[in-house]
Amino acid sequence: MKFLLAQGYQRVEQEQSSEKSSRTSLEGFDTSGSPIASRRMIWYRWLPWVLVAILTITNCYAWMATRSTHFPESIFSPATSAIKYKTVIFQAGIDSDTSPYQGKPSQEIDHEWEELHKYGVSRIPMSDAAQLANRTSPIPGDEGHYVVILEVFHQLHCLQHVRRRLFWNETEQGSPDEVEALSMKHLDHCIDSIRQSLMCSADVTPLPYVWWRKYDQLMPATAVAHTCRDFEAIRDWAKEHRAGKVDKHTQVYDPLGDQVVYDV
Ligand SMILES: *[C@@H]1O[C@H](CO)[C@@H](O)[C@H](O)[C@H]1NC(C)=O
Ligand SMILES: *[C@@H]1O[C@H](CO)[C@@H](O)[C@H](O)[C@H]1NC(C)=O
Repeated sequence: MKFLLAQGYQRVEQEQSSEKSSRTSLEGFDTSGSPIASRRMIWYRWLPWVLVAILTITNCYAWMATRSTHFPESIFSPATSAIKYKTVIFQAGIDSDTSPYQGKPSQEIDHEWEELHKYGVSRIPMSDAAQLANRTSPIPGDEGHYVVILEVFHQLHCLQHVRRRLFWNETEQGSPDEVEALSMKHLDHCIDSIRQSLMCSADVTPLPYVWWRKYDQLMPATAVAHTCRDFEAIRDWAKEHRAGKVDKHTQVYDPLGDQVVYDV
């Protein structure tokens, strides 16, 4: 291989010898030595370029490989511009390391939960609506604008329902079955929707195993750093695009095409 390369370079050297002789002094190379020494000199001269070529090619391959895993978004979202990443150390959710979303429902805790999703219903322009993979509906009385809810807000809302039913007996009177949103059928939908989302995002953050004195055994610890979508940035987008109160009982003409009608 080395021999072949040397031969190749020698040929190039011969072809360009006239041009080279004027350049060698400039570059500080002396090609007037023995043929073997000059061959080695030429090899050294080309070495950086060979390395650059190899690095460029391997980098291109690496870039192509990571591109398909790091930027998978192919379904259009009007909120793509709001996606940012940040490192978040999760809260363990036990003992002293609890979040403001935990504990028996109270006015304060419920308020925190509402803040998570209360701007969830968004108003988007027709230009965005036209790019959606699934057609949505125009907002009655607001020509040129359409309504959507980003999945994250639907799920947080759903999770809050699950939480409310779990604590029902401790906090509320009567039967939760009388509240439509808390029916087992609806919560079954919520849980399955959250299941799919967890699988969809498939967080691969490794959780370390630590020794839990209380249980006298090894168990995973969850309070570790994660690479996260910046939720606040997405909520800010939703706040900016909040639809406010949408009249959900009026069907209006949609210039983009027939409205999707669900028959379930
Ligand atoms: C959205 O579009 C996909 C792909 O065409 C389709 O399978 C799905 O049923 C649609 N969903 C709704 C709610 O229309
Ligand atoms: C609430 O408590 C009652 C009586 O203990 C029990 O029968 C019922 O199943 C409980 N409901 C829920 C939703 O936990």
